[in-house]
Amino acid sequence: MILVTGAKGQVGGDVCALLKQQNRAFFGIDADTLDLTDEERVRAFFDAHREITSVIHCAAYTAVDKAEDDFEACARVNVTGTTYLAEACGSDIELLYLSSDYVFGSDGGEPLETDDPKTPRGVYAKSKYAGELAVELLCPKHYIVRTSWVFGEQDRNFIATILRLADTHDTLRVVVDQVGAPTYSRHLAKLLCSMIESGKYGVFHATNEGECSWFELAQFALSLAGKAVTVLPVTTEDYAAKAPRPKNSRLSKRSLDEAGFSRLPAWEDAVKEYLSHR
Ligand SMILES: NC(=O)c1ccc[n+]([C@@H]2O[C@H](COP(=O)([O-])OP(=O)(O)OC[C@H]3O[C@@H](n4cnc5c(N)ncnc54)[C@H](OP(=O)(O)O)[C@@H]3O)[C@@H](O)[C@H]2O)c1
Repeated sequence: MILVTGAKGQVGGDVCALLKQQNRAFFGIDADTLDLTDEERVRAFFDAHREITSVIHCAAYTAVDKAEDDFEACARVNVTGTTYLAEACGSDIELLYLSSDYVFGSDGGEPLETDDPKTPRGVYAKSKYAGELAVELLCPKHYIVRTSWVFGEQDRNFIATILRLADTHDTLRVVVDQVGAPTYSRHLAKLLCSMIESGKYGVFHATNEGECSWFELAQFALSLAGKAVTVLPVTTEDYAAKAPRPKNSRLSKRSLDEAGFSRLPAWEDAVKEYLSHR
């Protein structure tokens, strides 16, 4: 039996929908069913559900900029909550933990290998890395999957925001010097569902294929949606977001290839598919 946390979130929602379609035995939980920061309840939950053999952990505190002022809440969910979950899984239950490109904190230009040095900057980035360490330490049967720039049908994402802003603004400022790859949550869900119960444990990177800047992504989505708006490229420094962002989010897929998992489609096709579902 697979347990999915964050079942009402972007990725967790798509994972649950796909597991259902695949007729696999699973159940999804969210903060209102089980608050992962409540140690006793987490332990009691696993005691009451001995049928759980795998967990796909999609729940997280994901408000990157808010986390800079709200560090206790972010750490409670992403570090403490993940640790309680990892403790409950122990050595018997396999745990798939979703992590982030932000753990690297890289400003270089090369694709990042899974074991490249980690210098996470900002509260959210550090909390995701601490979550990885807890999973590695406590759960031998782990899959750590780092993804980036996720967008999905829940419309709480960069593309949806840009398209919405285009209706009320003549000009948009978008960061040009952060390069990575967008990730369509439906495509990511497909990979996660093929990974869980495979027994191919390890650390993996999963994004749509190719690379672009936020500026290029905005231009591409706006032109597909037929929205005429001027997009001005700005630097990370000029944009001055509250939380620091890495300039290099290029993630190497070497370990994914070596384990025989399929890569995700090209990011341009992913954006087209997403817009066709809106
Ligand atoms: N979004 C991205 O661009 C991105 C990029 C890289 C990595 N990731 C990682 O990918 C994973 C999924 O991201 P997402 O975009 O799907 O996130 P999301 O849409 O924000 O969903 C997160 C879910 O976690 C739940 N949650 C929060 N606190 C909880 C708690 N204390 N106990 C139980 N559940 C709790 C939330 O419930 P409530 O809504 O009720 O609080 C929400 O349903 C996360 O690990 C994230 O760090 C995301």
